[in-house]
Amino acid sequence: MKNPKTILITGASSGIGRELALSYAAAGILLLLTGRDEKRLADIAAECAARGAAVKTTNIPVTARAEFAAQLAEWDNATPIDVAVANAGISGGHGKAGDDVETLLRNIIATNIDGMFNTVNPLIDRMRARKSGQIVLMSSIAGFRGLPSAPAYSTAKNAVRAYGEALRPLLARDNLEVNVVFPGFVRTPLTDANDFAMPFMMEPAKAVRIIRDGLQKNRAVIAFPWQMRAMIMVITALPRFMGDAITARALKKKR
Ligand SMILES: NC(=O)c1ccc[n+]([C@@H]2O[C@H](COP(=O)([O-])OP(=O)(O)OC[C@H]3O[C@@H](n4cnc5c(N)ncnc54)[C@H](OP(=O)(O)O)[C@@H]3O)[C@@H](O)[C@H]2O)c1
Repeated sequence: MKNPKTILITGASSGIGRELALSYAAAGILLLLTGRDEKRLADIAAECAARGAAVKTTNIPVTARAEFAAQLAEWDNATPIDVAVANAGISGGHGKAGDDVETLLRNIIATNIDGMFNTVNPLIDRMRARKSGQIVLMSSIAGFRGLPSAPAYSTAKNAVRAYGEALRPLLARDNLEVNVVFPGFVRTPLTDANDFAMPFMMEPAKAVRIIRDGLQKNRAVIAFPWQMRAMIMVITALPRFMGDAITARALKKKR
């Protein structure tokens, strides 16, 4: 969408969401920012306000469906949301022996899939009625295939991709835009926790420039860097046993 005025960003207290909020922050813009950490959320709100934006925040987790829906309704009633970015997410690997892998898996699914539903679904009918709105879903390069290094995460991000693919033509009939973002590795606290090699690491500011450009042009797929996009395209096109051999190598690579 060109020149949106009211922008919702979940997971704005850190990383890509934080950088995205800063990039939109300007006079005449209302930012609706969410996250769990009140201090970091207040800090980013203050930074955005210093750039001239009006800012509202909530630390209601995206997993709290009813509470979050009520907050979205209140915000959207006050000022209709132009762009909703379902960005909040957590990652996690395959777990080590002794880890509570089941809990890890359920948390990743709850945040990355249910949290995404809880963000966009309450807004769809509202945007449809207005015949205006843009829905942005944060997937990942891991959203193009199941990965042994991150089973639950890649499952969740594949689901996010599929939901965006499904919604885009469906909602285009009501003039809505739906875009799915597929970052490779971006330097944030999420990737700081990884102990494996992360090729073609990108700084958040550059990632956000690419995302903003793709959103302005209403691209269905915003995938970057091109090297990671090409790599995953090759892997998904190869015979399964070859793709499995390549993705299994990531299990062994430590940085
Ligand atoms: N960085 C990468 O390389 C990369 C690559 C591909 C995709 N992505 C995706 O990009 C998105 C942002 O990742 P990031 O790298 O910026 O990570 P990050 O720095 O860890 O930020 C994640 C954000 O999500 C919020 N969040 C997590 N669980 C939440 C919940 N239950 N309710 C509300 N907010 C919640 C966090 O809030 P608090 O910090 O306040 O808890 C934080 O603001 C994620 O969906 C991630 O999967 C990232």
